[in-house]
Amino acid sequence: MIGSLRGRLYVGLIAVIALTGAIGAAFAYHSAFDEAIEIQDSLLMQIASLAQSGALGVVPEAHGIEEDTEVQFIELGQAPRGPADDRQLFTLKDGLHTATHRGQPIRLLLRTRPDGSRYAAAQPTAIRDKTARDMAFRTLVPFVALLPCLMLVTALVIATSLRPLIRQAEDLDARRADDPAPLPVTNMPRELHPFIAAINGLLARTQGLMEQQKRFIADAAHELRTPIAALSLQAENLDSVELPPPMRERVAALQQGMRRARHLLEQLLALARQEAIASSSTGMPLAALDGATKEVVADLMAEACERNIDLGFALLEPLTVRGEPVMLTTMIHNLLDNALRFTPREGRIDVGVYRQDGAAVFQVEDSGPGIAPGEMDRIFEPFFRGQHPEGEGTGLGLSIVKRIVERLGGTIALESICGAGRSGLRVIIRLPLPDAAPERSSRPAG
Ligand SMILES: Nc1ncnc2c1ncn2[C@@H]1O[C@H](COP(=O)(O)OP(=O)(O)OP(=O)(O)O)[C@@H](O)[C@H]1O
Ligand SMILES: [Mg+2]
Repeated sequence: MIGSLRGRLYVGLIAVIALTGAIGAAFAYHSAFDEAIEIQDSLLMQIASLAQSGALGVVPEAHGIEEDTEVQFIELGQAPRGPADDRQLFTLKDGLHTATHRGQPIRLLLRTRPDGSRYAAAQPTAIRDKTARDMAFRTLVPFVALLPCLMLVTALVIATSLRPLIRQAEDLDARRADDPAPLPVTNMPRELHPFIAAINGLLARTQGLMEQQKRFIADAAHELRTPIAALSLQAENLDSVELPPPMRERVAALQQGMRRARHLLEQLLALARQEAIASSSTGMPLAALDGATKEVVADLMAEACERNIDLGFALLEPLTVRGEPVMLTTMIHNLLDNALRFTPREGRIDVGVYRQDGAAVFQVEDSGPGIAPGEMDRIFEPFFRGQHPEGEGTGLGLSIVKRIVERLGGTIALESICGAGRSGLRVIIRLPLPDAAPERSSRPAG
């Protein structure tokens, strides 16, 4: 608890409140006690004066002049007499004294009348002390009642003052790593403004660094494009040259290597393009999801036919979403490319575009081996290729798809299809439907 600012403030302030309260209470108790004693002394004086003036109709040894206060009136006569205590009292001077009378400690006021006779107004010390204590205790009531309230209010004030800070920390914790938005200073205590400004400065510098790295990858891929394209062309041109069989094998290996390099560059450029697009999809144009899907399917149909794969639509509804057309095409192409690559000959790929629960759904089901459950966690990591690194893949396809889906404000889910002699992978992408999507007429699937 002491490790936290809240704990420290709470313990510190509560200790100060308790200490101040204790000192205040002790001081109030003692002054009230002394005051009560003084009041009782003045009461003795008043009673003695009344007795002298005869207003009380005094009788010697009168008791109970004041019932509550047990003030006694002691007549001592003109000379010492009676018990030793009374004779002892006679030796005292006029005024207030503390003495013993009949074995009981008393406080008394001695007076001498003009005729020389003496009398005393007395009160047992125990009664006086009890009365004074009662009065003094009453002064403690406000302290006892107010201290817990004060502690509660302190705890509330501390909690309320630190709430914006805690909320800020939670917001920061829930942020995406690439979200560069500065922390807001509104509603934050002024003392924290320099701290927030420093964090915002650090965020801006980190963002700058990230941008620099992204630009470097994009620039490097872009710069490599031309020489790799030239080299590929040269490698392809070797097909038309008469070569002995061992050389032909080497040329084939070279051509395959060039194709891989080109594919890697294209994927890196696609990834860099996604990074460069502003994070919100709200400013993007409306694009036909069904139209983009049909285009990509048409592009890949020849390859599917070559391997006798039944590539077709399970459902195709006209749907419009917000997104750059190139983003949709890249997303669909990468998923269908995976499905084609991992589906064995004579297999089946079903594509679906439909509306469900207020979202546009793009779905691909293949009859390949699916993805092992242990790989699902890492499948979106760049360059991760899992158990089936088929063909010339780079491991970038699904991370590109994930970035695109995030940019479009959607979600992606991968499910393994297994059971009843079937296997495969089902990819389901849900994209938000635009608020005011223009109505488009239904077109037949195919
Ligand atoms: N439909 C699928 N069926 C089985 N495994 C898949 C499927 N799609 C992806 N995978 C697994 O996920 C890995 C990563 O896929 P991803 O698309 O990111 O990369 P890639 O296809 O290997 O390379 P690239 O897409 O860049 O050509 C693949 O290597 C494969 O192991
Ligand atoms: Mg892929």
